[in-house]
Parts: sequence; C-alpha cells; structure tokens
Amino acid sequence: MDLYEYQARDIFEQHGVPVLVGATATTPAEARAAAETVGANSGGVTVVKAQVKTGGRGKAGGVKVAKTADEAEQYAEQILGMDIKGHTVKTVMIAQGAQIAEEYYFSILLDRANRTYLAMCSKEGGMDIETLAVERPEALARIAVDPNVGIDEAKAREIVEAASFEAETGDKIVPVLQKLWEVYRDEDATLVEVNPLVQTAAGDIVALDGKVSIDGNSDFRHPEHEAFVDHSKTDPLEVLAIERNLNYVKLDGDVGIIGNGAGLVMSTLDVVAYAGEEFENADGNHPKPANFLDIGGGANAEVMANGLDVIFEDKQVKAVFVNVFGGITACDAVADGIVKAYGILEGHGKSPKPLVVRLDGNNAEEGRRILDEAALPLLERVDTMDGAARRVAELAAAAN
Ligand SMILES: Nc1ncnc2c1ncn2[C@@H]1O[C@H](COP(=O)(O)OP(=O)(O)OP(=O)(O)O)[C@@H](O)[C@H]1O
Ligand SMILES: [Mg+2]
Repeated sequence: MDLYEYQARDIFEQHGVPVLVGATATTPAEARAAAETVGANSGGVTVVKAQVKTGGRGKAGGVKVAKTADEAEQYAEQILGMDIKGHTVKTVMIAQGAQIAEEYYFSILLDRANRTYLAMCSKEGGMDIETLAVERPEALARIAVDPNVGIDEAKAREIVEAASFEAETGDKIVPVLQKLWEVYRDEDATLVEVNPLVQTAAGDIVALDGKVSIDGNSDFRHPEHEAFVDHSKTDPLEVLAIERNLNYVKLDGDVGIIGNGAGLVMSTLDVVAYAGEEFENADGNHPKPANFLDIGGGANAEVMANGLDVIFEDKQVKAVFVNVFGGITACDAVADGIVKAYGILEGHGKSPKPLVVRLDGNNAEEGRRILDEAALPLLERVDTMDGAARRVAELAAAAN
C-alpha cells in the first residue's frame, strides 16, 4: 500500500525524522485557514501540494509556493480537482515554506534481485532524480543494507561518504538516515523515499517530501495502518470480496473469472482476452475479463458460493468462466461446491448468469458427471480451457 505524502510526513514525525508543519485541506477555504496557521512559522510562506499517489507532482503544476494565505487559497483552487497522470487531486497539503539551500536524495528499498535492502543517496536531489539515475549513475550512491543490521551509524556514514557529502553536512545527515531506517523497519515498509531531503539556509536537514510503501503482508501486526486505507478509492466489490476473504481484483470487462491458483487465474485472464477478440458486444467492444478471482487450493462449496456471489453482484458481468484444475481438491469436490453454491445463491434470491465450467485434473470425470446430473440452469460444461474461454466470450457478447 502506497501512502500519501501527508501520511508519510506524519509517520516521519512519529519516528523523529525532521519534517515541517503541514496540514491537509479539501477545499480552498480550508486551505486558506490552514495556510494562516502553518505559515505563521515561515513568514506567511506555505507550499500547496497535491496529494496523489504518483510522482512528478511538481512538474505537473501540483506543487506551488504561496506567499500569503490568499495565494494559498488560489493555488488550492487550481490544484484541487486537477488530474495528475490519471489521479484526481482531492486533497492538498499546506506545508510550511522552507528556505532551501540544497536538495538531496535518499531512499531505502527492497532489492529483490540481490535479496537485500538497498539505500540510494545523492547530493543532487530534487525533481529530476530519474534523469540523474540514467544519465549520471555515478552521482547516485547505491549501498546494500543488511536487513539484520540495518542502517546503524557506521552504515549511515558509509552511505554519506559514498554520496561524497562534505564532512559537516554528512555529520548532520547521518542521524536522519538512521531515523529513516527505523521508519522502514518499524513500519514494515518496502520503500521509504525522501526527495528532496534538504539543507535549509539555517543549516538544518529536513525531509520535504516523503514516499512510503507499506508491505501489506505485515498488516496483521500493524492494526494502526488500517487508518491509511483509502476506502473511497476501493471498489465496493473489492470491499465485499475482502470481507469474504477472497483474492479478488476488479477489472473492467464483462466476463467473470473464477479459478484455483493465481497462476491459472492469470493465464485464464489472458486466454479469455484473446478469445474475446473474435467476438463483439452490441456496443462494438470485445468481451474482456471482469475480474481476477483465485479461490485457492481448498475450494469448498462456501468459498465457491462466496466467489460466485461477488461476481454475480458485478453489474458489468454478462457471463462467468469457472476454470478449475483439480489437484489437492479434486474436481468432484469442486463440482459439489458449484452445485451447493447454486443452492446457497438461490437461497439469497440471486438468479444465476450464464456459466461455463471447465474441470480438468484430479477426478475430472466424476466432477463432470456431477455437473451433468445436476443440470443447473445456464450452466455449460466445456472440457478444454481454450474451448471454454471461447464459449464464455461468445455468451458475454451475445448477452450485451
Ligand atoms: N515545504 C516546502 N518548502 C519549500 N519548497 C518546497 C517545499 N516542498 C517542496 N518544495 C519544492 O518543490 C519541489 C517539489 O516538491 P516535492 O518533491 O514535494 O514534489 P515532487 O517531487 O514534484 O513530487 P514527486 O516526489 O511526487 O515527484 C521540491 O524539490 C522543492 O524544491
Ligand atoms: Mg519529490
């Protein structure tokens, strides 16, 4: 989960990373009020910053320095509602204005290829770090960080030396890097990036921007991270799926997909998209997958019912493809599950949508027999993955 800058700022503050005062606003009037308070510490100067989970806000016009609260209100008016790379700005942060002497760059991230953490640091931070990394890679120090040791004082020194900081500045940055490591470790982050980390005219080191990504696998030990979840952004069907413990991702097509195992489901998405090319809906579009849903290895009737329930709830879905390869859970158990799921859904007063089922693998014959005997309404059995994908695309196109 990526955090907004203002959330990263708050986390930094909790861990003792130096930051400036900041407050969020969702209307120009709120921005003016915030600027009056926040700017009191900086001669009235504030910076109005778009809060979107994407980079390049400054270049897109989403970061503006305001000399007065009036100006802050005007900039907020411009920035709120702005589209930055497909993200609509709903919130701005009014940050205290800093007198910047120098801009640096620092980040810690997970280096999957080398199975370790990586710290990156440069004396030349600011908005063009991506260009710097490509054109002058030597100006961006890269230092591996042992997860068991982290960034202690010695490691922080190694980093600032590799980035060629002068001794005096280096001394000031070292404790900040140690604190940023604590953020990374204690919050179970996969990325902590500060661009720019600045030295102010007064000689203080301050984190002026922050990007933090949290590892979702650590949610169980961070109940407090729940507060960062942006429920307004979450699709209602995804919320329903989460409540039911399903691995579901909403997509924007019209063919519902259920499979067992993430790999199988992903290839099912590809096969359906490919088969869909052959057909056309009434509106001229090709049928496409409506979701990703992996019901896992131990798919019982209840899980199958929950999965079908969520998919039937999706108004865009015109037909559903259940693609199961029997392994530990054999096909007869899955077929039983589908039959019982129909019963459960009927009990909920839900009418089924056209369903194409492909069963293969362990006990496929028995599973197919169970489905044939049950003769469920709108359910068709196709025994190959390609054939089933083609049929479900055809049904979706016909229903549109
Ligand atoms: N509080 C502040 N006071 C003075 N200047 C600031 C402040 N915040 C940001 N700036 C200036 O604006 C520039 C861009 O700000 P920031 O880094 O927050 O956004 P960005 O880099 O464009 O966004 P992103 O990191 O998402 O690409 C900074 O490099 C800095 O020069
Ligand atoms: Mg930045």
